[in-house]
Amino acid sequence: MSRQLGIFGTSGMARECRDIANELGLEAVFIARAGEDLTQLSLDATVISESELHRYTDLSCVIGVGEPALRRTLARRHASRRFANLIHPAASFGRGQRERIEHQQGVIVCAGARLSCDIAVGDFTLFNLNATVSHDCLIGDFATLSPQACVLGNVAVGEGVWVGAGAVIHQGTPQAKLSLGAFCVIGAGAVVLSDCQAEGVYAGVPARKLS
Ligand SMILES: CC(C)(COP(=O)(O)OP(=O)(O)OC[C@H]1O[C@@H](n2cnc3c(N)ncnc32)[C@H](O)[C@@H]1OP(=O)(O)O)[C@@H](O)C(=O)NCCC(=O)NCCS
Repeated sequence: MSRQLGIFGTSGMARECRDIANELGLEAVFIARAGEDLTQLSLDATVISESELHRYTDLSCVIGVGEPALRRTLARRHASRRFANLIHPAASFGRGQRERIEHQQGVIVCAGARLSCDIAVGDFTLFNLNATVSHDCLIGDFATLSPQACVLGNVAVGEGVWVGAGAVIHQGTPQAKLSLGAFCVIGAGAVVLSDCQAEGVYAGVPARKLS
């Protein structure tokens, strides 16, 4: 039997994680919410309930959930578990960058994503399809970059920030990184030119605060 990887979640992101796992020769084991009706799920892989997970002591896991706050909740609930990094073979990295990620836990990097160089990547970060991050950025724990999100150089992405699909975050400077405050949300297609406040919701070109 091939090695197994536990994947929290049963929705689209979890299935995309299954596909990455399979590309890497790993067998996916989905971990559904306690109480979820497992008979309704057709995931073409083993599915267990979160309430049974204690029986799988050696199963290393990833959290296949796009929403940063939920990823954090699950990571905290299962803090004693070993979390793997899941990196699609078609992701690409600048010098030393992949090795930096390997020191973290729970990082997911999808096909086509590119992280250039000198980027500090937190735990449980998610780089979705074709997301790009340029030099000298900081990507906080639990941040999610949606498909095609583009973070230019010298940007500090706070903990739990959710950058929507196709959003562009303009570059900062080495002296003053452009800052996205913790758990702010950047709408799909936004172009962010200046700092965003923690927990704010921003959208548009140029991005303006919605709430
Ligand atoms: C920005 C966002 C978070 C706002 O969601 P929301 O708080 O539920 O806001 P609403 O849908 O009620 O929209 C509020 C207003 O913002 C506008 N708006 C919403 N999203 C927008 C966007 N991405 N760009 C420009 N305007 C947007 C709406 O048209 C609406 O305008 P109105 O008040 O003039 O009618 C959401 O629309 C979004 O873009 N999420 C990211 C989606 C994504 O990339 N998912 C990735 C999945 S992998």
